[in-house]
Amino acid sequence: MNFEYLSIRCRHGHLEILDQTLLPHEEVWLNANEVSEMFDHIKRLAVRGAPLIAVAAVACLAVQASREGTTAEKLIKDTLHLKSSRPTAVNLMHMSDELTSQLRQSDPSSNPRDLVLKVAEDVIKKEVQMNQSMSRHGASLIQNGENILTHCNTGSLATPGVGTALGVIREAHRQGKNIHVYVDETRPLLQGGRLTAYELKSEGIPFTIICDNMAGFLMSQKKIDRVLVGSDRIATNGDFANKIGTYSLAVLADYHKIPFHLVAPASTVDPDCSSGNEIPIEERNPAEVLGVSGSQSVQWAPTGSNVYNPAFDVTPGHLVTSIILDTGIYDRQSIQNGSLHKLKFFDS
Ligand code: MRU
Repeated sequence: MNFEYLSIRCRHGHLEILDQTLLPHEEVWLNANEVSEMFDHIKRLAVRGAPLIAVAAVACLAVQASREGTTAEKLIKDTLHLKSSRPTAVNLMHMSDELTSQLRQSDPSSNPRDLVLKVAEDVIKKEVQMNQSMSRHGASLIQNGENILTHCNTGSLATPGVGTALGVIREAHRQGKNIHVYVDETRPLLQGGRLTAYELKSEGIPFTIICDNMAGFLMSQKKIDRVLVGSDRIATNGDFANKIGTYSLAVLADYHKIPFHLVAPASTVDPDCSSGNEIPIEERNPAEVLGVSGSQSVQWAPTGSNVYNPAFDVTPGHLVTSIILDTGIYDRQSIQNGSLHKLKFFDS
């Protein structure tokens, strides 16, 4: 298995990830061949973003499967372990469920290598294609001269392709539309201020970083024409989980009558989840809120302060103008009519 994307690469069976906790100041590649290493990388967000977590996990499992003597039973155990690394992004759940189901059905005397490799290649290829399709659908909505607000990082650091919300921005820019992006810094881990800014800067797309609590004021000043965000899990009624702070943006956009779109691949829809209440929300280490972590770690709050640190929030579907998937653009009416129920990532 050989591939190379912005933050994950595999050469001659050697898997590495770009440590996103150190970006944009340091570009350090880490070994990710072992399941224990990959589990740790996913858990501490060295590799992150809903689609990329699934890609990273399945690539690591493919490396395991290519080793002499690896059994289906061991691979199932490894898959379930990686699945437990982060609870909210459904892409990891879809991949894990598909792989364990195929491994359980496989002939116990056969070598599981080819099966795992095929699932890995399938997941990666589909994610790249879905990125391209959704970015084209989304870019068709963007008008020349728009100021777009985005949250967290949804680009090539979060997927193996051009990205979801950031993919739409990239495509609109590529089409020559004169757009400008307001980037929410995205506390507590600053995926916007560090990672989205890193990607936009390297692409030459004009952007301005703002603190998360500035969005409402900018909207009141008519400085924002559209909001584009990604998602970690979409319920079939259109409610969705995304990086903490997304819900506040959706409420603000609704109040100011600004179009608010969610951009995601079909692999982010959870057919078993009928509403946002059922989405498990990850709670993270209080240290992330007490200061900033990463290469320039500093604590500013008093040691021992009480902290609540949910990594995601849930936005009700009725606040979304439309959901842009690789399969097309779905407005509120079509979601209410059950269009998300019909989507399926794996054919089996
Ligand atoms: O905690 P993170 O950095 O993995 O959260 C990422 C997000 O919330 C993204 O918006 C989401 O995964 C969609 S990315 C294509």
